[in-house]
Amino acid sequence: MATVLSVSGSPSASSRTNRLLRHLDDRLVAQGHEVTPLDVRTIPAEALLGADFRHPAIVGATELFARADGVVVGTPVYKASYSGVLKALLDLLPQYALAGKTVLPLATGGSTAHVLAIDYALRPVLSSMGAAHIVQGWFTLDKDITVRDDGSLAVAAPADQALSQVVDRFSAALGRTPVLAAAG
Ligand SMILES: Cc1cc2nc3c(=O)[nH]c(=O)nc-3n(C[C@H](O)[C@H](O)[C@H](O)COP(=O)(O)O)c2cc1C
Repeated sequence: MATVLSVSGSPSASSRTNRLLRHLDDRLVAQGHEVTPLDVRTIPAEALLGADFRHPAIVGATELFARADGVVVGTPVYKASYSGVLKALLDLLPQYALAGKTVLPLATGGSTAHVLAIDYALRPVLSSMGAAHIVQGWFTLDKDITVRDDGSLAVAAPADQALSQVVDRFSAALGRTPVLAAAG
């Protein structure tokens, strides 16, 4: 069993990214992992925008990263990249906050034109933070994510299958990650 931190990087109160991550958390829990959700939008704006490293919410988030064996990082695609609030949080974490960790990058977006945003924008940042293993990520179109009347989530068939596969690969990679000492 591994400890997983599941970070949703959307500022939206009705975030599809957030819903999707919480849906995928259930799959990881069913596989025996302990999953802690972290929604960046719940961190006070003054802490994020004022670069207040000592704010309890930032200290708490830093501890969650430190404790995790694996981290799911989900973001909406905004302006062909990941969200600003996600970057604001990542900027306040220690330089090698992902050292020794397995990371699953996920994105939701409105257009397949930006399907590669995970690879050209998010992955280099995760790598610079020392991630030991960044597994294959997945981009999900927002139109494939539906919230049913009862509040549950439905993901359109091909996307659902692909997401299950990347989550299962991430799950399998947890525990196989070599522990690398943080450089510097
Ligand atoms: C300000 C803004 C910028 C966006 N820019 C893009 C974009 O460049 N490419 C894209 O594919 N989708 C873009 N979208 C669509 C969102 O990525 C998509 O609807 C996503 O699922 C929203 O996730 P959320 O509900 O978690 O915030 C944008 C949406 C907003 C609100």
